[in-house]
Amino acid sequence: MKKITIAIDGFSSTGKSTVAKQLAKALGYVYVDSGAMYRAVTLFAMRQKFINENLFDKQALLSKLDDIDISFKFNKQLGYAEVFLNGENIEREIRTLDVSKFVSQVATISEVRAQLVKQQQEFGAYKGVVMDGRDIGTVVFSDAELKLFMTASAEKRAQRRYDELIERGDDVSYEDVLKNVQSRDHIDSTRQDSPLSIAKDAIKVDNSNMTLNEQFEFLLKLSEEKIREVSAK
Ligand code: DC
Repeated sequence: MKKITIAIDGFSSTGKSTVAKQLAKALGYVYVDSGAMYRAVTLFAMRQKFINENLFDKQALLSKLDDIDISFKFNKQLGYAEVFLNGENIEREIRTLDVSKFVSQVATISEVRAQLVKQQQEFGAYKGVVMDGRDIGTVVFSDAELKLFMTASAEKRAQRRYDELIERGDDVSYEDVLKNVQSRDHIDSTRQDSPLSIAKDAIKVDNSNMTLNEQFEFLLKLSEEKIREVSAK
């Protein structure tokens, strides 16, 4: 069977990464969380004090872009690759509401996008990859054989993200999480460079009323059909 590229885009907290990991595991493909890369750059900028509630020093961040090394290492126990910033595992730290607050701003910077897109394309050079993000089907892999666009209501998405943060012990309110989801939707869809949009050949999946398992079974079937179709050519 031939290998294909699966591009999964959509609004924040639509469960893209959950299903992307499930598909990668079932198909024996590599999973790449492109959002984690934007989060890694954001964490770097926060630690360097280039960004906070009152400040966004884009030039300072750009002058240090070459100091940022992002890599992924497969964690056998977890069953997926964790993200590292200059050799440090930052998988947990990048998921905080603080990083979520600033990441959309960082993702508007064209120079940052160009650097990360290049690295993402290298990860997918040999196909057999499932990548999730906002511009995977439109920019990173515009020739992906299977493109999915995930959506769900903002309230459902905020509830899912809130439950996740509470379960890991973070002190957050549902209202703050909902505000963050709505604000990221707005910034991600209206930014100038590579805004979140649905590729014309993408399949739209509204999972507001689907269980995780229903969604996985449905998307696995779509992926297997596509792999068969590509292999038969
Ligand atoms: O998928 P996520 O919520 O972890 O992504 C974090 C932010 O990164 C999101 O608000 C927008 C940005 N992003 C992007 O602009 N392009 C991508 N391919 C992935 C994420």
